[in-house]
Amino acid sequence: MKSQTVTQPAVSPNGPVSVSTTSWWGDAVIYQIYPRSFADGNGDGIGDLVGVTEHLDYLKELGVDAIWLSPFYVSPQADAGYDVADYRDVDPIFGTLADFDRMLGSAHSRGLRVIVDMVPNHTSNAHGWFVAALAAGAGSPERELYLFREGRGENGELPPNNWQSVFGGPAWTRVEDGQWYLHLFDTAQPDLNWRNPAVIAEFEGILRFWLDRGVDGFRVDVAHGLIKQDGLPDSDAGAAVMAGSGNFGPMWDQDGVHDIYRGWNAVLAEYGGDRMLVAEAWVSPPDRLSRYVRPDEMQQAFNFEFMTIGWNAAGLRRAIDSALADNRSVGATTTWVLSNHDVVRHSSRFGLADPTSWPKGISADDEQPLIELGLSRARAASLLMFALPGSAYIFEGEELGLPEHTTLPDDIRQDPAFYRTGGQEVGRDGCRVPLPWNAHEPSFGFSPTGRSWLPQPSVFGELAVDQQVGVADSTLEFYRAALATRRERGLGGGDIQWHISTAELLHFSNSGVRVVVNFGRHPVPLPHGVSALIASEPDAVLHGELQPNRAVWLA
Ligand code: GLC
Repeated sequence: MKSQTVTQPAVSPNGPVSVSTTSWWGDAVIYQIYPRSFADGNGDGIGDLVGVTEHLDYLKELGVDAIWLSPFYVSPQADAGYDVADYRDVDPIFGTLADFDRMLGSAHSRGLRVIVDMVPNHTSNAHGWFVAALAAGAGSPERELYLFREGRGENGELPPNNWQSVFGGPAWTRVEDGQWYLHLFDTAQPDLNWRNPAVIAEFEGILRFWLDRGVDGFRVDVAHGLIKQDGLPDSDAGAAVMAGSGNFGPMWDQDGVHDIYRGWNAVLAEYGGDRMLVAEAWVSPPDRLSRYVRPDEMQQAFNFEFMTIGWNAAGLRRAIDSALADNRSVGATTTWVLSNHDVVRHSSRFGLADPTSWPKGISADDEQPLIELGLSRARAASLLMFALPGSAYIFEGEELGLPEHTTLPDDIRQDPAFYRTGGQEVGRDGCRVPLPWNAHEPSFGFSPTGRSWLPQPSVFGELAVDQQVGVADSTLEFYRAALATRRERGLGGGDIQWHISTAELLHFSNSGVRVVVNFGRHPVPLPHGVSALIASEPDAVLHGELQPNRAVWLA
């Protein structure tokens, strides 16, 4: 494990501040575990904490520094656990608190840090607070914990404003006594009233509960949504848009959210300074993101601009430069991410005719990505990402080169976005399919009984872990080698100097390593006097030239 000394950057009101590289998260590679799809220990077809514990050696050997677990708390699973009914316990489908403690202890004993998800914007409608609020009726203190309002229209039959849910449909649901409550997501996810001190106090208590157990940090869900503009005015855009389409409107990125994170920063500081917060904040323009990582707020924020650009040299160059500059201006380290549980896997996006497109899921009726081309570009983009200074996030299965499942039958889809948009949005199930561990076992080794909450496509067989371990050219061995080289060369703590950036080519140096990525259609000559440390494919360099859709590190 790396140094744990935290150097808070000196804040200067005008200029750039020095960036701390000694905090463990500054250059960490963090692996996102989507618990229901990682590994099933008890055979019910849904991944669980025992499954995580059983595969920690795999993650250690992959070479990551930390894991982030998506929610495993008590939940009716209306939005795959992002609807929490009890923040202080584990849902029985994922195990018990004792399983969590064992997992945490096993991870720590291997030198792996553990980040858990915190979902503060909304609870589940099965949360005790919401159940009590419904029972207590209009005007009660219980309703003040959420955003209940009277409706508009003669008899209050119209929603209080024009906001739309991120998952489609109105953002308001009417209850029996005629009041309406706000839910920026599903009806089963009522938004909390973060202007209420009781909500603030409750979440500080929840943070302490998990910090006391020993977690190293929190990924903060919908971090830009907690405070809504006073008076809940109509939104010009009408819709509560999120995820790649920009976030404008009175429900997003209000200044008040920062006070909440200053409070959380203080809570974490009580635990010795090596715990961290990472924001899921879809804000626009992207430089607004640096406000979440000021020295007294969060430590990191996901760099969604980098993720959403797609396979596009000029766009990536811009996103890299601006992310580094924006973070430097507040003394924070930058993060990089290409895939997560909410987006089409980058190996599939990059195989579309337009590799910068941003589909909200892919169905059998849609254009089907080219698997091989997509994977080549995905490996090249990952090699680019691992060469950048800062922290990199991996979504489970990308190290295997898994594609999106693009032919799931509609009748087994689970994402509320599919149902709330009447199928207009395919939704996120395609990136959440259980991992293949062993090609020759039922459910490719995901579950001892062969059950699997979503079916796996047949191509997962040849991509199973046991088919890739020790196979030199496999995506898994490529990831392992890239992460080992990144660590040896100190790339996460380095700095970049650009040599060439055109619409076809990116070429920069970091810590004495030259990084070249070919986005074009033709081979490009590589500099003389250096040799390849690692390439995105075995055939990437031929006769001193880098082939299209390939990347290489040279030294
Ligand atoms: C975040 C999560 C997503 C979830 C939503 C509502 O965007 O990443 O999976 O559906 O918040 O909690």
